[in-house]
Amino acid sequence: MNVMIYKDKETASKAAATIIAAQILQKPNSVLGLATGGSPVLTYQNLVKLYEEGVISFADVISFNLDEYIGLDHEHNQSYFAFMQQNLFNFVDIPDGQYFVPSGVSEDPELECVEYEEKIEAYGGIDLQVLGLGGNGHIGFNEPANHFAPTTHVVDLTEETIEANSRFFTSKEEVPTKAISMGTGSIMKARKILLLAFGKGKAEAVANMVNGRISPQCQASLLQVHPDVTVLIDEEAAANL
Ligand code: GLP
Repeated sequence: MNVMIYKDKETASKAAATIIAAQILQKPNSVLGLATGGSPVLTYQNLVKLYEEGVISFADVISFNLDEYIGLDHEHNQSYFAFMQQNLFNFVDIPDGQYFVPSGVSEDPELECVEYEEKIEAYGGIDLQVLGLGGNGHIGFNEPANHFAPTTHVVDLTEETIEANSRFFTSKEEVPTKAISMGTGSIMKARKILLLAFGKGKAEAVANMVNGRISPQCQASLLQVHPDVTVLIDEEAAANL
């Protein structure tokens, strides 16, 4: 793992945007894997800036998001689809129909998972996957478990994740309890991975991911055996390394 420690998340996010921009410049029709949550927000803002300055275009980019809440349709303000529009897609030139987020309201969520996985394959797989990190070491919504999920699947969110994500809702009761998430196995298939984690709340998870035993109890620990992972963190998140 290539672990890069920056003084703050602003500097780290600039570096992350530069890496993503370089990917798009090298391959304009890159397939990106994108993440939601607080961690990538500044990176997306930097990407919008690079787009506005004419450095990059998303015209040929394809993107697949990691996950979506079950029960929220894409119009819902807190859906991850809406998050992506609010934070990136509304401000760049990616055409509708070139960005994909699992449907949280499919009548057959299991089928939705299979089809999502097939669609990623049909586009040739993910060139660059952006990840955040849960305080419990989750990536996507792959919660601590007894195994690593190989493919996109339906997950039950842990109490800890529901609590952490309740900050985006008016009450904890509104947070969905299930989600569709790419598996840790799907994530491992990406050719390149960029993980962002900031603040002291992530320090323990970062240490487990980088130096801990590989275990599904810390899903991100599997990234240790991926050949091309860059971890961008601030000093607080690096405190336990
Ligand atoms: C959420 C998302 C993850 C995200 C993580 C960390 O539950 N499903 O994709 O990486 O938690 O979120 P944050 O970046 O807000 O700390």
